[in-house]
Amino acid sequence: KKKVIIDLDTGVDDAMTIMVALANPNVEILGITCCHGNTPLENVLKNTLRVLKVCNRLDIPVYRGCSKPLLARKQHAGDYHGKDGLGDVPDPDAPGLELLQKEKAVLAMIKLVKENPGEVILVATAPLTNLAVAVQLDPSFPKKLKGLYIMGGNMESRGNTTVCGEFNFVADPEAAYVVLDHYTCPTYIATWEFTCRNSLPWSFCDTWFAENTPKAEFMRTISCLSRKKAQSADYQKETTTGNGFNSCDVYAMAAAIDDTFITEHEEVVVTVELEGTYTRGMMVLDYIQKLKKAHKAIIMKKVDLEKLKQMLINALK
Ligand code: BDR
Repeated sequence: KKKVIIDLDTGVDDAMTIMVALANPNVEILGITCCHGNTPLENVLKNTLRVLKVCNRLDIPVYRGCSKPLLARKQHAGDYHGKDGLGDVPDPDAPGLELLQKEKAVLAMIKLVKENPGEVILVATAPLTNLAVAVQLDPSFPKKLKGLYIMGGNMESRGNTTVCGEFNFVADPEAAYVVLDHYTCPTYIATWEFTCRNSLPWSFCDTWFAENTPKAEFMRTISCLSRKKAQSADYQKETTTGNGFNSCDVYAMAAAIDDTFITEHEEVVVTVELEGTYTRGMMVLDYIQKLKKAHKAIIMKKVDLEKLKQMLINALK
């Protein structure tokens, strides 16, 4: 089984990511570490427990991580995910935060990886604050990972949060910089433009959501708001493909789960702009090796969408 830690900021696509991982018999989730991001940390914690409750998997350890970026001003994505991060449809019987682990997320991450050297895959779908703190506390942490799968950044300077910045990187540019600089394990990146280009047809989404199960019902409910937003004319201008369903975070998990999911990729040195008036938080690709850095990231370009569909279908069964 693949040993996975998910570092997330549960929003709608993070919820789908957890469900995809839970549905896969070859995945063992060692823990879920929460970070600020789509919504304030307190919501992220509640939302994560809500998803686990729907899946009857409250046995998975959930940890409290960083509540704010290293230096940047806090920002959230309430317009898309809802103020509460899950479409603003509260569950009156949501599990309480007493179910959280006592240990803090970053320490737990370091411990879990130390106990399973070379075996743990880290799937990161939030701002990278927890990961940046982890490497500061334990510089050997990244070397002990089997792989890192990030949803974040952009490859053609098209943004969704600033002119050319993607949300997870813009929400904590310094953290993204530290991670891209220090994580020398195989690092896969699902950028914003990549997820837009590899979106699924809305017709798939309709059939998928129509499944008559509690999980499908939950997904239908929490994604109403983000779906409306995603299908709005303004949003379609923002995405580079225009009109598909792209559940961004799920791509990172799908790649981590199935080694044959990525069908086209590019290996490039990457870093993050920290200063530009318009470009702060933008991922920069060093095709001409000006940065003289040895470690290249694996930028996802194309994937097997049939495999993704199957994973999504299984997740709601
Ligand atoms: C990323 O930002 C968030 O809104 C999504 O959950 C995803 O992680 C896309 O830019």
